[in-house]
Amino acid sequence: MEHTFRPHGDDSHTPHREAGGRFDSDLTARGRFSDSNSWTPEDLYASPPPWDIGRPQSALLALAKAGTVRGRVLDSGCGTGEHALMAASLGLDATGVDLASNALGRARQKAHDRGLAARFLRWDARQLADLGESFDTVLDSGLFHIFTGADRAAYISSLRSALAVGGRYFMLGFSDQETGDRGDRRVQRLTRDEIRQSFTYGWRVDFIEPTTMDSTTDANGIRAWFAGVTRTPEGGRSC
Ligand SMILES: C[S@@+](CC[C@H](N)C(=O)[O-])C[C@H]1O[C@@H](n2cnc3c(N)ncnc32)[C@H](O)[C@@H]1O
Repeated sequence: MEHTFRPHGDDSHTPHREAGGRFDSDLTARGRFSDSNSWTPEDLYASPPPWDIGRPQSALLALAKAGTVRGRVLDSGCGTGEHALMAASLGLDATGVDLASNALGRARQKAHDRGLAARFLRWDARQLADLGESFDTVLDSGLFHIFTGADRAAYISSLRSALAVGGRYFMLGFSDQETGDRGDRRVQRLTRDEIRQSFTYGWRVDFIEPTTMDSTTDANGIRAWFAGVTRTPEGGRSC
């Protein structure tokens, strides 16, 4: 079944791409957020979602405090923008991309309220090459684990096109070590191996560590993997 992406909302100030007119990540293609086949990305934010915690994820905040977030920063699948805003608060050039106009609107409002300079674009994270820009750090909290199959391959290729050689991608995604009912059951839980195997030629996996993702619905957080990956020159290998 094909799920039609119906863009709406005021995005008139934002360069945007409509994902080829469809919002067809595996998550949506399985239709697991709605029984309707005509829902939009904005529906994710119709009521406050559990990942929208109003601050950066602890793992990514620790990374920033350690000075590891640097250069031009892209928050991929930024939602309401906490990680782009975190980078902006460090004085870094920060961009967030997402497909949900209402989330992007909230991100822009937060930037305004906090007096921070960050750019938020309606853009498909699988099509970053078309953005024609280069980043030094890409932060991903909760997007990678949405994608499977061809969407995941497209996303990884997209990430590679957007990262400068030596640039780093940091990913926080649900872990297969979470065996309970906690977390959003609509998205898959990642294994360490599948993360490692996703980043082979042209990437170096620096670490894959167990951690937790903060959530408004789970006081103890949800078990997650935190991965750091470096873009290597063409032909570089994962260690
Ligand atoms: C679990 S939410 C995480 C949001 C944000 N990173 C945070 O930590 O609050 C995943 C986000 O990915 C966005 N998303 C899903 N598919 C996307 C795509 N193809 N391109 C850009 N964003 C996408 C969703 O709209 C949603 O905002």
